[in-house]
Amino acid sequence: MSLKDFFIALSENQFLNNNAKKYGLKMGAASVVAGTNIKEVIESIKELNSHGISCTVDNLGEFVHDQSEATAAKEQILAVIEAIHQEGVDAHISLKPSQLGLDIDYDFCYKNLKEIVALADSYNIFVNFDMENYARLQPSFDLLKELSVDHHNIGTVIQAYFFRAKEDIEKFKNYRLRIVKGAYKEPAEVAYQTKEDIDRNYIELLEYHLLNGKFTSIATHDHTIINHIKQFIADNDIPKDKYEFQMLYGFRRDMQIELAKEGYNFCTYVPFGQDWYGYFMRRLAERPQNLELVVKQVFNKRTNTILGIAAASFALGRLTKRK
Ligand code: FDA
Repeated sequence: MSLKDFFIALSENQFLNNNAKKYGLKMGAASVVAGTNIKEVIESIKELNSHGISCTVDNLGEFVHDQSEATAAKEQILAVIEAIHQEGVDAHISLKPSQLGLDIDYDFCYKNLKEIVALADSYNIFVNFDMENYARLQPSFDLLKELSVDHHNIGTVIQAYFFRAKEDIEKFKNYRLRIVKGAYKEPAEVAYQTKEDIDRNYIELLEYHLLNGKFTSIATHDHTIINHIKQFIADNDIPKDKYEFQMLYGFRRDMQIELAKEGYNFCTYVPFGQDWYGYFMRRLAERPQNLELVVKQVFNKRTNTILGIAAASFALGRLTKRK
């Protein structure tokens, strides 16, 4: 098992998610998660706005199993929208359909999303549907289509590792799309597996949507691809209002500020909330160098507790699977 698989397995462990919540932001998570409550996230947004950077806010949430949890997530997102409006900050919303009940009941999820999208629409705030694993891909697109009958303040994500990504871009070319490489572990039947294939498809999709689509969020920390796309944009006279660069909060901060200073539209993805653990583990899976963040915290007693639980639980999971 690779280090990437190891961290993805940890991110999917509900027991660890629940335990991590009790400890607040630990293991270095504070450098990539902008606080645990709305007050803290608004402060982070204001700081980024002061550099000319706009934000997309993700109220973190994993493992929503019943309607009350999904309703609580909806209420929290509505409160974030109110706070963005009242504080007048430059920010919009990113959310995950599973958090609003997609795995429980499609119609229930639709109603929750409708409430969120309608409130955001009334304040002229954009809502992005983040994309999760393959099983949730088509239902998420279906929700987007249904909701866009009445609302135009919505868009979604295209994950370049999927073979079907080009087809989906074509179908959704009139939407604002964030294009990413893809963060989940997907089987070879549906997704490219090598970095070379994913990077090649990623560049192809970015170029295609920049030329043909409504608006492109170029979401990557990959400087080689960013430089390539900057040249492509210049060569093809792509207007500034048709694209932006996006990166995650806490990653390559210098480059984020530099791109904004160079005059590019830049948006930082700002996650916050008590449910930080799964998000943090997926970031470690993408880039094991981020482990440095953890190592720096290694003498923290509570961190050791969580890491201890993580290691034990992972080993237990492996043993159970072998049976
Ligand atoms: P990748 O990990 O491929 O790295 C390429 C190279 O870039 C590295 O070799 C290194 O040279 C450089 N690099 C990368 N990170 C660096 C760092 N921190 N410091 C220094 N150098 C670095 N996924 C998903 O499935 N659904 C979603 O909805 C989203 N949403 C989303 C929003 C935003 C704003 C971003 C940036 C990403 C996502 N993702 C996502 C995650 C995405 O799919 C992908 O997993 C990560 O962005 C990692 O891929 P990159 O292209 O960033 O670099």
